Amino acid sequence: MQNSELFRNPFAWYAEMRRDTPVFYDPEHQSWMVFRYDDVKHVFSDWKTFSSKIPQPPEQTDFTESLNFTDPPKHRTLRSLVGQVFTARRVEALAPRIAQITYDLLDAVQHQGEMDFIHDLAIPLPVIVIAEILGVPVGDRGDFKRWSDGIVVYDGAALTAMADYFRHLLVERRQHPGQDLISDLIAAHEAGETLSAQELVDFCIVLLVGGNETTTNLLGNAVLCFNDYPEAFTQLKQDPQLLPVAIEEVLRYRSPVQAMARFTQVETQLSGQTIPAGKMVTVWMGAANRDEAQFENADAFVIDRDPNPHLAFGNGIHFCLGAPLARLEAKIVLSAVLERLPNLRIVPNRELEFIPSVEVHGVKSLPVLF
Ligand code: HEM
Repeated sequence: MQNSELFRNPFAWYAEMRRDTPVFYDPEHQSWMVFRYDDVKHVFSDWKTFSSKIPQPPEQTDFTESLNFTDPPKHRTLRSLVGQVFTARRVEALAPRIAQITYDLLDAVQHQGEMDFIHDLAIPLPVIVIAEILGVPVGDRGDFKRWSDGIVVYDGAALTAMADYFRHLLVERRQHPGQDLISDLIAAHEAGETLSAQELVDFCIVLLVGGNETTTNLLGNAVLCFNDYPEAFTQLKQDPQLLPVAIEEVLRYRSPVQAMARFTQVETQLSGQTIPAGKMVTVWMGAANRDEAQFENADAFVIDRDPNPHLAFGNGIHFCLGAPLARLEAKIVLSAVLERLPNLRIVPNRELEFIPSVEVHGVKSLPVLF
């Protein structure tokens, strides 16, 4: 199969793997591959066997020790500390700002009758929101956006520039605290918790790396689903109360993150296979989320599917810290779309280019008419 076809539609391959080789060693990627829902969920829940720590990071960078790459007890300490400031209340309080940013972005294109949904809306929105959460001054937004873009394509220079910027911002906020997340993290730190300056910088970076491209793709993937299932889109327009469950179904059906890595600490068994200690394991949430053993009619987009225990945000101790924010952003943006652009449709007969990655699922650009 052509790689570009696999990026567009990995789901037929997943079905084959779930059926024939649900757990196998792939010498090319030097990793054990795991496809079935129960196995993927098991790997996420058993952090003692399946560690998140990269055994030998190629080099120490500003990110390799951040909370997504740690195990308890360190993970517990970091997570409880950042959990104190990245609260549901803080996220909820952002709703009016997120709506305002959405309206501003839509105002800029509304008169055109067309836009690139990814570049005009789905990329800028999460970047602006996270910049506001962190308290990045408006004048620095241009640099901030450039570095964020660089970081998601593994540009080392952008990562260093962003880390230096955060170090500088930390010093500045220590002297002049504001209402932002960085000031709160410093306050929590000074109240006796153990978060080093490096850990603070790492946390800011992980919010960018973990939160921007993923949210962009959730928004773009929602439009893909609505386009492929016009009856579902009509149903949603008639009953906008369905939006929260519809967003969960987009997360299941076209998961923005298709796979995550773990590392075995001890020898273990999974679906009858023996995985030795010290091996990389790749769990395919994109495949688990289409598993017929878990989801009835798994290959159909069912807009009111409920319950929907998908694994798009992971599971267990590393469950996505930003899930409430991602859900809120999606709800606000997509309700604005239903309200202001009810005729939204993808430009017909246009070949869509998917992001060239098997771990990330989404389109590079999405021309729409409205
Ligand atoms: C649709 C959007 C998103 C998706 C699909 C997503 C997906 C995920 C997944 C699968 C994990 C688990 C990683 C693992 O188990 O190793 C995770 C963790 C994480 N996510 Fe998200 N994410 C999204 C949005 C966000 C946002 C908006 C933020 C913050 C601004 C964020 C911050 C984080 C952090 C900090 C972690 C690490 C949690 C930990 O290790 O304890 N994510 N995310």
